[in-house]
Amino acid sequence: MAHLIGSISTSHVPAIGGALARQKQQDPYWKPFFDAYDQARDWLAQTRPDVVVILHNDHGLNFFLDKMPTFSVGAAPSYQTADEGWGIPALVEPRGCVDLSWHIVETLVADEFDITTCQEALIDHAVSLPLALLWPEGQQSGAWPVEIVPVCINTVLAPYPSASRCYRLGQSLRRAIESWDDDRRVLVIASGGLSHQLDGERAGFINKPFDLQFMGSLVDDPTWITQYSNEELVELAGTQGIELLMWVAARGVLDDMPVRKRHAHYHVPISNTATGLLVLEPA
Ligand code: DHB
Ligand code: FE
Repeated sequence: MAHLIGSISTSHVPAIGGALARQKQQDPYWKPFFDAYDQARDWLAQTRPDVVVILHNDHGLNFFLDKMPTFSVGAAPSYQTADEGWGIPALVEPRGCVDLSWHIVETLVADEFDITTCQEALIDHAVSLPLALLWPEGQQSGAWPVEIVPVCINTVLAPYPSASRCYRLGQSLRRAIESWDDDRRVLVIASGGLSHQLDGERAGFINKPFDLQFMGSLVDDPTWITQYSNEELVELAGTQGIELLMWVAARGVLDDMPVRKRHAHYHVPISNTATGLLVLEPA
C-alpha cells in the first residue's frame, strides 16, 4: 500500500528559473523567497518521498487555444523541459512514474472524471521550478530523487473547472494513491497562484488579505474557497491567480484527514506574483 506523506503548495514564476541560473539566491530581492524553501527541504529530508503527483497548469506548451482539456494526466516515462524563452539552461528531465500514472487514470475515470491521458508531454516552469526549488541537488547531479505524475488543470482558457470540482478531483487522487499497490511514499505538489494578473487594466494586481485568508483556510476549513465562483475568484485573485485551483485540488487529496501545518510562507511580489508556500502533513 502506498503511503501519502502530505502536500507542498507553491507558486511558480518563470523569473525564478532565471534567478536560479544566475545564482541570485542571496540577492536582497530574492533572498526572502528562496530562504522559505529551506524548511520545506528539511521536511522532505524527514519524509523522503519517492513519487510526486504534481498538480500544475500548462501555459500553452502542450495545449493551446485550439485544444484545451479541463483535466489531463501525464503517463510518460519522462518529461522534457521546454525552453520558455529566458535563455536559461534546460532542467534535467524528470522520470515519470508510469505505473502510478495509469492507476490514477483508471481511478479518475472510474470516479467519472473525463480526463485526457498524455503518453508524451512537455513540462514548463510550473513543473520544473518546484522540483528545482525543493531538490536543488537534482539539477547538479543530473537526476531528480523522485519520479513524477503530472496532473494538469486548465486555468488558461475559460471555462475552468470550479473550486469544488477541483477539490473532488483531489479526493479521487487520494483514492488512487491510497489504493496503489506499491509501498512507495507519495507527495502531492500544487504549483500555481497565489494572486496575480499579468495582463489587462489590472496588470500587477495582488490581493494580500485574500491570499492570507485562503492559505489559512486550507489548514482547518478546506472547503471555504468553494463558496466562490470562478468569476469571483478571478475578481479576488486576478486572471492568473485562478491558478490557486491547484492548491484546492491538493487540499482535496488530504480532505478529511486531520492536517498539521509544517511550514507556511508568503512573500510579495516575485515578478508580478504573490508567492506562497504551504507544507501540510496528516496529523
Ligand atoms: C508570472 C507568473 C506566472 O504564474 C506565470 O505562469 C508566468 C509569469 C509572473 O509573475 O511573471
Ligand atoms: Fe503560471
